Formats: sequence, structure tokens, C-alpha cells
Amino acid sequence: MVNRPLSETRILIVGLGLIGGSLAAALRAVGFRGTILSCDPDATEITRGIEMGLIDGGDTQLAPLVEGASMIVLAVPVLAMQSVMTELAGVLDRAASNVVITDVGSTKAAIRDCAVAVFGGLPANLVLGHPIAGSEKSGVATANPRLYAHHKVILTPDADTDPAALARVRALWEACDAEVLEMDVARHDQVLARTSHLPHLLAFSLVDTLARQDQRLDIFRYAAGGFRDFTRIAGSDPVMWRDIFIANRDAVLASLDDFEAGVARLRRAIEAGDGDAMLATFDRASHARHYFDSLLNQTSYQAEYQMQQHGKLRYRVGPGGGVTGRIRVPGDKSISHRSIMLGALAEGVTEVKGFLEGEDSLATLQAFREMGVAIEGPHQGRVTVHGVGMHGLKAPSGPLYVGNAGTAMRLFSGLLAGQAFDTELTGDASLTKRPMGRVADPLRAMGAEIDTAEGGRPPLKIKGGRKLTGLDYDMPMASAQVKSCLLLAGLYAEGQTRVREPAPTRDHTERMLQGFGYEVHREGDTCWLKGGGTLTAGPIDVPSDISSATFFLVAAAITPGSDLLLEHVGINPTRIGVINILKLMGADLRLENAHEVGGEPVADLHIRYAPLHGIDIPLAQVPLAIDEFPALFIAAANAEGITRLRGAEELRIKESDRLQAMANGLATLGVEHVLLEDGIDIVGGGRLEGHNYSGGRIDSLGDHRIAMSFAIAGLRAAEEIVIDDCANVATSFPGFTELARQVGLNLEEEAGSGEDA
Ligand code: S3P
Repeated sequence: MVNRPLSETRILIVGLGLIGGSLAAALRAVGFRGTILSCDPDATEITRGIEMGLIDGGDTQLAPLVEGASMIVLAVPVLAMQSVMTELAGVLDRAASNVVITDVGSTKAAIRDCAVAVFGGLPANLVLGHPIAGSEKSGVATANPRLYAHHKVILTPDADTDPAALARVRALWEACDAEVLEMDVARHDQVLARTSHLPHLLAFSLVDTLARQDQRLDIFRYAAGGFRDFTRIAGSDPVMWRDIFIANRDAVLASLDDFEAGVARLRRAIEAGDGDAMLATFDRASHARHYFDSLLNQTSYQAEYQMQQHGKLRYRVGPGGGVTGRIRVPGDKSISHRSIMLGALAEGVTEVKGFLEGEDSLATLQAFREMGVAIEGPHQGRVTVHGVGMHGLKAPSGPLYVGNAGTAMRLFSGLLAGQAFDTELTGDASLTKRPMGRVADPLRAMGAEIDTAEGGRPPLKIKGGRKLTGLDYDMPMASAQVKSCLLLAGLYAEGQTRVREPAPTRDHTERMLQGFGYEVHREGDTCWLKGGGTLTAGPIDVPSDISSATFFLVAAAITPGSDLLLEHVGINPTRIGVINILKLMGADLRLENAHEVGGEPVADLHIRYAPLHGIDIPLAQVPLAIDEFPALFIAAANAEGITRLRGAEELRIKESDRLQAMANGLATLGVEHVLLEDGIDIVGGGRLEGHNYSGGRIDSLGDHRIAMSFAIAGLRAAEEIVIDDCANVATSFPGFTELARQVGLNLEEEAGSGEDA
């Protein structure tokens, strides 16, 4: 990290305890050359600070120290702020004219109110802040120069805060190697009440409760590691914590209410011997804790997470590279979603192998946990779902968040319309723009009560306890999600639910329902089922996702010298549009070792380079390759002649407007094309060797498939391609970068922020 230089000349730290002392120590350690002074009511702390070489001088009084200070850091307990600020207000005119004041208090609303009372308003040169670091130790003797390194510091400026003052406080903490964030005061207090204040309260309370029960403290002799880990923070400074709980009363009480409700739920489960409920809670918690661990350990998950938070993972793709080897891409996304959904509603235990551990399918898994389903894993693609039966789901405690996953939201809407309880479905910014009327309208025709936001967009509010009646529905668009949604609602409806599709779409729902012993009929373009049956659990083996395999199929198809084997790929006839289209374009693609697993056909796909030529893509192939077009456009850009696509208006309402996003990217690379409302004509470069277009900077619009498509485009580009906003690749294809590098692509990831590529 390149930190801004610290321009302060004289820093006055008021309160020389662990926090103030560590700040001085950190500044010294990075070679801060200005003066550091400190004020503390305890003269021995000042003397010790001088002896330790942390401060140049100090006093027990504030007045003599303020003169010439360029920055004053208030590091006193929260309830001491009032008197310190009052004293400061009286002598502030002696400080340098551009003095900046900041604090380190653990609660912010109370300190802001105190400043407003003392100064008659929040001074523009006062920047409230809070370093999220500390320990149960206190006093300057425990000062630690690395206390803030890689820790977060939250600053809570308001609209009137002087930006220059804010920048200087930021520079102070960045000099200590901290990561500086900004938040508003109220949010800060709520977040800290949950993540810090509540755990401290619990630790104090647990230790005190046990100690009271056993006055001689004998019981502690038998306490093992669990007790020690849980209660370390009960050794913290009592005065400081009293102040925090007084200052952050309301937010702490709210978090305590939530906690008490959680404990009460567990109490009931224990009382009733409800092992499933316990398992569901422990499992959720255990996963959340592992996730948190990976954040702390700065594993790749953290990098991913951080980038996701900022939406700023960037790919850099060097021109050229090869495509050879033997790889296995992750499990099928559509089947992974459905394995959890049907497993949860089944009687018995469903063992899933090959589950896609991508964010979309994990969102589905998490949603079922929130509805009381015990789910073990995922661990290396293995998941065990303890089915609760058709009517065993429980009301979740809040909205179900499904992230970027359109499939989850649309399938859930059907399934939840049949439940006894109300639910709300929400998603990320991209999902919130996608149309849900296509499922809400026919569900309403079945008797469901569903509210959407304007224009039929999420969130979806679904009323429980409605009686559903079977529907005979002519789908206006070829959509497997709509079909699946209605079939899932149909499980709960009286009578038959029939869905007619204008063109064949993926049939995983029908196949898997049959696999779970539910009768589903199909004749021509119509499928139907009768409500009121049950599902029986069984093992599921998820094949590799042909949609993920596509990026490597196209990579190999466009790169001279390539020879690649993709193992165990699902080749369900409703999904193989990409194979048909690539073959029509001249690709040397063979299916080997074809066999069936759990009702789904699979094969190894063997592809070697052969020159491609442009084609008119047959209309019938469009729904069978609907997710594969971004990658196929890259194939077209490398083919000889023109490739024409029509009848693909659905591409405009995927995770992005994929026709527009691809056209923009192709334009950047200099690939000639004509964009239409429902398709595109692409004029291929057609060279057999060398490059077919330039490089450039591409915006993936946060769409995983756009990002991966331009990553493989690099194989035939003249210069580097830089792709912004790629973190969502983790929704469908965790490990994409590693596999791409393994086969020979020149792909690097970096954290990106805005315009600085
Ligand atoms: C899916 C259906 C398709 C596809 C999506 C997954 C499914 O969507 O694009 O990635 O699992 O049912 P539509 O039904 O909107 O075509």
C-alpha cells in the first residue's frame, strides 16, 4: 500500500493507555519525525511513555501542551470525552491555526453529541474515528507498534467535515498500516454493538455468572480451552466498558434482544430434543465462522470477498497463450440449485456429489438453512441435505437474500408461494433490475399473492397460506426458470399444472423431480404434474457445467495448436446448443466416454484447434445455448466470415444486457459487428494465425459470463485486454483463473479501483 505522507508536525495524544500509546509507538516505528506529546492524568504513565521512547514529553494538564499542536488525538474512555473536550475548548486558540482533532472512541453518537454540546456544533476540523483494534490489556506499558497494522479504522465524517481534515486523519492511520473505512455514525454504532459490544457483554456475564456460582473460583480449575477462548475479553478494562455500554445503550439493547431470541430458540430446541433445529443452527454458525476465519487469514476467499465488497476485481489478459491439457470444470449450476431445493423438500437424506460451490448455489443453500433445513457441507463438492418434507420448511427470520442468482429467485418464488408462511426475496444490484413479472403473473393466476417493486422487479414479497390451483400455461418466452417455478408451485397446487414452452428449454427440474420419485409427464412441447405428492431423497451426482466448459471449448476452438479434454461434462440434450453451434462453425470437437449419471447424460469433451467459419445460428439452437452466447461471440470474432444470431432478445435481461455488453467489448477490440434488438452480426477476423483484433479495456458490467468471455478473447488479441468488475465470476465458476492459467492463458487478477488500470 502506498500511504499518503504524514504532514503533521506536532501530535498531541490525550490519554496514554494501550490505544494512545500504540499510536505513538506505531508512528515512531514508521519514522515519524515530528513531536509527539501526551496528556494523561497519571504522571507515571507519562514518565513511562518517555522512557519507552514513545513520546517527547507530556503533562497531566492539557493547557500547556496544546500550543502549536497540529493534530490532537483524544484517546480517553468514552465518558471522559465530555470533560476533555470542555477543557480543550477553553485552550484551543493556542493550537496551530489548522489544527485537526480526532478521537478513538468505541461509540460515535455519544461522542458526537458531546462535541455538539461543548463546541455548539460539530467543528469542521473534528473527525470522529475508531480504530478496530485493542486487547484486554491496558496501560502504556502494553503499547504495541503493530496494533493497527492490517486492522480497520472507521472514520465517521458528516457532511460538514472539512475534507482536508478528513484526509489528514486518514493519513495518520494509514501511516500505522491500518485500513481506513468511512461510515455514518449510526451505522458504526449498530455494527460495533453487534461485533464488539455484545461479545464483551457476554464474556463479562458468563465469567461473572460462573464465578458467583462458585465463590471459591474452584470451577475455573476445570475450565478448558473453550472457556478460555470464549472469555479472554472478560479481562478487559471495566471502566472503559462501562462507558461504552452507557454510551451505546440503544444499539446494544437491540443486539441483545436479537441474541436473547436466538438463545431462546436454542433453549426450546434442547428442551424438545429437536436435533434438526440444533444442527441447523450449529451448521449455519459453523459455516459462518469458517467464512470469517478465511477472512481473517486473508485466504483467497478474503481477496474475493473484499473485491466483491468493492466490486473491483480486474483481469489482465496477456495476448497469446495456448490451450492444452485435461481439466474438470465445476459442477452444473442449474442442477446444484435444484439438488438443494428438492433435497430440502424430500423425505430422507439427499447426498449430493459434485455440487457447485459458487456464490449462486451457495445462496440457495443458505436460504434453506434459514428456513430450518439442516445441510452439511459443502466440502469438496459434497453436500448432505436433511430433507424436511413438503411441508417442513420454517419461516425464515428475515428476507432471503439470493445475491446474483436469477435462478434461485425465480425457482424460489414458485416454491415459496406454496408455503404456509410469508417470505421476502431480495438480491444484489444486478438481480434487482431483472424482471420477475414473468413468474409473478402466472403464480398469481394460480392463486398466489406476490408483491413486487415497480416494473415487476425484486424484492418479491410472497404471502404464505394461500391456496394454489393448478394452471394450464402457455409460456410467452422460452424460459426454464419460469417453467421450473410453475412446476414447483404445482407441487403445492390442487390439480394439474401444465406448462407449454415455445421452444425446448433445459429440463433438469422435470428429470430431477422424476429422480425424486415424483411423476412428471411430457408430451411434445408440454409438461405437467399433479400437486400433493411427496419427494423421496436419493443420491445426486452433479456433472460438470457445460456452460462453464464453454469458455474452454471456445478457447481451444480459436487457438492454433490447442488440444484439450474436458472431463465429465453434462450433455443433456437441452443444453448442448454450444456443441452443435461450434461443430457447425467447423470446430474439431468430439464426445468421448459418454454415459449416464443419475438421469443426466455426461461425456468427456475433446477439442482440438480447427479453423472456424461464420454461420447463421439456427433459431432452434438459441434456447439450448442461451448462456453460451457471450463466449460464442468470441468464437465468431475469430471465425472467417459473418456469424448471425437472431431470436435472442432474452440475452438483454440476463445478469447484464449481454447483447449490449458484448457489442461494447467487441467495439473496444475493433471487431466489426452490427447490433440488433434480438441478435447481432459479427464479422470474424478470420486469420488462421496471429491476432484477430486489438486489445483494450472492457467493462464486464459485473456479469460473470462477459468477464470470462473477454478473458478467453485474449488468446487471439494483439495487445493486453483489461477487464473490469470481474468478482462475480465467483457466482458460477470459482477457480476460473487457476484453470485458465493451467491450460495456458496469460491471465492475472488484480484489485482494481476505478480508472487506474
Ligand atoms: C436456468 C435457466 C436459464 C439460464 C440460467 C439458468 C435454469 O434462464 O439462463 O442461467 O437453471 O433454469 P431462463 O429460464 O431465464 O432462460
